[in-house]
Amino acid sequence: TTANYQERFRPQLHFTPAKQWMNDPNGMVFYEGEYHLCYQYHPESTVWGPMHWGHAVSRDLIHWEHLPIALEPDQHGTIFSGSIVADECDTSGFFGGGSGLVAIFTHHDTMPGTEIARQRQSLAYSVDRGRTWLKYANNPVLAEEHLTDFRDPKVFWYEDGHNWVMVIAAGDHIRFYTSPNLKEWEYSGEFGADQGSHTGVWECPDLFPLPVDGMASTQKWVLIVSIGDDAKYAEGSRTQYFIGHFDGYTFVAGETPAPIRWLDHGRDNYAGVTWSDVPEHDGRRLFIGWMSNWKYALVTPTSQWRSAMTLPRELSLGMDAGEIYLRQIPVKELCVQRGRSKCFASLVVSSGQEQDLGEGDLLEIIAEFEVGDALEFGLKVRTSDKEETIIGYDSSQHRLFIDRTKSGMTDFHDEFACKHSALLSPIHGMIKLHIFVDWSSIEVFANDGRLVMTDLIFPEPSSRGLKLFAKEGSVKVKSVAVYELDSIYAG
Ligand code: FRU
Repeated sequence: TTANYQERFRPQLHFTPAKQWMNDPNGMVFYEGEYHLCYQYHPESTVWGPMHWGHAVSRDLIHWEHLPIALEPDQHGTIFSGSIVADECDTSGFFGGGSGLVAIFTHHDTMPGTEIARQRQSLAYSVDRGRTWLKYANNPVLAEEHLTDFRDPKVFWYEDGHNWVMVIAAGDHIRFYTSPNLKEWEYSGEFGADQGSHTGVWECPDLFPLPVDGMASTQKWVLIVSIGDDAKYAEGSRTQYFIGHFDGYTFVAGETPAPIRWLDHGRDNYAGVTWSDVPEHDGRRLFIGWMSNWKYALVTPTSQWRSAMTLPRELSLGMDAGEIYLRQIPVKELCVQRGRSKCFASLVVSSGQEQDLGEGDLLEIIAEFEVGDALEFGLKVRTSDKEETIIGYDSSQHRLFIDRTKSGMTDFHDEFACKHSALLSPIHGMIKLHIFVDWSSIEVFANDGRLVMTDLIFPEPSSRGLKLFAKEGSVKVKSVAVYELDSIYAG
């Protein structure tokens, strides 16, 4: 069957594979006007299996063109996560003095004669803007036979040292390697065995510098580390980040012990990393994550294809009460999808009297609330007589929450139906919510990206209502803008 992108639960704003299983985003690089997005892909099934790299390109981060599979399993194993860099000066020697793309990825197989997993790092390169890929003849280029978990290399050019740096996950820590040519790698340090959250195996790291509050003089380095699912924890797989310093050899956290910080307080943003080589005049650090959770990823109720990416986001560092944090906002390119809009100003919503804001299953909502005497207030999206997804603020606990217990189909996994929350302080007495609603997800950017929650939901197509609510008191809604969005498949 070919995809018509109208199947039940098919995201209309988010990247999905035309068919079959997808997990982590891989090989994200900007090159000659195109954003590349590769991804962990199983072309034979809607569940995980021998991994390939699927591939798509975009000029605007919103509309994607599917390309043929970039990397297939070979004699060294299947193809796990990794990154792509533009080798502008032909340090690798693959490009006869010109330039091209080099993919650095994990080859996954087993130790000869055993069933013990083995993970080694390999290269592939492309001389035709990523349209075809050749594996390097001397793969693998980096092995550490004593490590069982050794995967997901993210590589960048480190200008100060004039060398490449590889950041890679090794079970309970991140390792760093350097190279002049992408082929020969030297260990340079490690981080994290005694830092951060260890509720699951460490995976999919990323490392990059960002100015604090846009001031170039105060640059910090951000280390992103995803953590695998452990049945003991309701949150499942999730992503943490550290802020600190990179000295050319290793990462040093700004505080010891480093506080545990979550990149997303929802349940469905995993294995996310950022695009390489976005041009300096653009200056953005662009992120995308896999919008699922290993706890139930294999059993979400879609057919033909399984999993989507989050919306692309711009990362920056902000300051809040003396603390530096990683801010996320949706990329500005999304504005092009805005269609008809409605605006409301100065509404008062009282307990028990929900305010109808119309309906839609593909919406962007920007709402500003004045925290008043209501114990709880917020929005209900994708509502019907039977269903609702609640995005609310609990003013006594100062917590933002999502309640998807009645969001639609939830019975495919015991722990999918849930209400979860995170601390969020009002700014000048206000809570601002920027929300994207799609056919099977919601993304909430609170207080200009201070806190983000990304959650899958599987409502009936007919659950289209949108409402403001308050509980035990009233809330003043300074303004609400509701945009109907155009599907990326329209027109
Ligand atoms: C993260 C991950 C990676 C690995 C890939 C395999 O979701 O487990 O560590 O490379 O998925 O598909």
